Amino acid sequence: MNILVAGGAGYIGSHTCLVLLEAGHQVIVADNLINSKMEAVRRVEQLTGKNIKFYLADVTDEKAMEQLFSENKIDGIIHFAGLKAVGESVEQPLKYYHNNVVSTMVLAKMMERYGVKKFVFSSSATVYGDNEIPFVETMQLLPTTNPYGQTKVMSEQILTDLAAVHEDWAVTLLRYFNPIGAHPSGRIGEDPQGIPNNLMPYISQVAAGQREYLRVWGDDYPTIDGTGVRDYIHVMDLAEGHVKALESMDEQKGLAVYNLGTGRGTSVLELVKAFETVNKIKIPYQVKERRAGDIAEFYADAGKAARCLGWKTTRTIEDMCRDTWNWQSQNPRGYEE
Ligand code: NAD
Ligand code: WQD
Repeated sequence: MNILVAGGAGYIGSHTCLVLLEAGHQVIVADNLINSKMEAVRRVEQLTGKNIKFYLADVTDEKAMEQLFSENKIDGIIHFAGLKAVGESVEQPLKYYHNNVVSTMVLAKMMERYGVKKFVFSSSATVYGDNEIPFVETMQLLPTTNPYGQTKVMSEQILTDLAAVHEDWAVTLLRYFNPIGAHPSGRIGEDPQGIPNNLMPYISQVAAGQREYLRVWGDDYPTIDGTGVRDYIHVMDLAEGHVKALESMDEQKGLAVYNLGTGRGTSVLELVKAFETVNKIKIPYQVKERRAGDIAEFYADAGKAARCLGWKTTRTIEDMCRDTWNWQSQNPRGYEE
């Protein structure tokens, strides 16, 4: 298939482009590089020995998308082109609503205009809010506490309404848990700009000596050791989930929603320990106050994706820690040469 990967230069997008190319699909990337580097796309080409057709374009720009769709016959779209910094979304809500919701609407318009019938959307476990664990697709969603989360809820709603009227469309909402890790080559990985907010990029910068110690946000949660528990998923497992979702769409009509997680929870301190053991590097840490808006513990019910897509994660927490460090140590400044 000819797949448009919107946001394909980013962390999850680049790994997904690689898996798509290796599975024999053709890839067109549209990315404005607002949170990524062209080097990621080049490295995917090097790793696969295949070409990517790249458009330096903003997905909210209808004219630019018109041009892309009129120049290419697109069989399916994966929409990764979102802004994702939760704290920034609280400070600049309009930027987030515009980028994340308008991009979804523009791509949906192009589907209507150009007869594209397959759409995969990057959603997030954040749409469940502070729900009972494990999170199941059939749950009533609870309010999310920040504009970023709201943009995911709104995009899900828009796509749900569209799937209801376009009977020949297949629309899949993928709710990711916590993606970490990197391609085992160490050539592509997560390249956060500025001080990382997320746990694993922070740990790997402490390991690299770029930050003095990890701040553990609270050790008084009702969890196994008092620290927050999440369902960490290897980015390569996640990427493979997208390809499975796309490839199952010929039999799918209408909307499908899947959790992409492992179904297992890991605490902050368990992740630190695993990283230390696998990579033989000490990670100094200090316990601090809880971070506002954090949930104590959540993980996926991963059963539906296994039953319906035949997709299961195969990589362990140890694999995630090893591959993260392999990427970080080979690329201490990310994609910057
Ligand atoms: P990322 O920032 O690395 O990738 C997003 C890519 O989209 C970047 O290359 C960025 O330049 C591009 N982009 C953003 N807005 C754009 C626009 N208007 N036009 C064109 N390109 C644009 O982030 P990621 O971690 O790869 O996340 C991909 C998607 O998955 C996002 O929608 C994110 O919200 C969602 N998601 C991520 C996580 C996570 O923890 N990483 C978890 C759940 C959901
Ligand atoms: C994980 C755990 C922290 C950093 C966020 C978004 C979510 C999703 C993924 C996109 C928590 C603790 C963290 C640190 C720490 N993104 N922690 N010290 O909060 O589950 O999810 O990213 O959809 O929407 O909210 O991930 O990696 O930030 O935190 O102790 O320096 O690590 O308190 O328990 P989170 P995270």
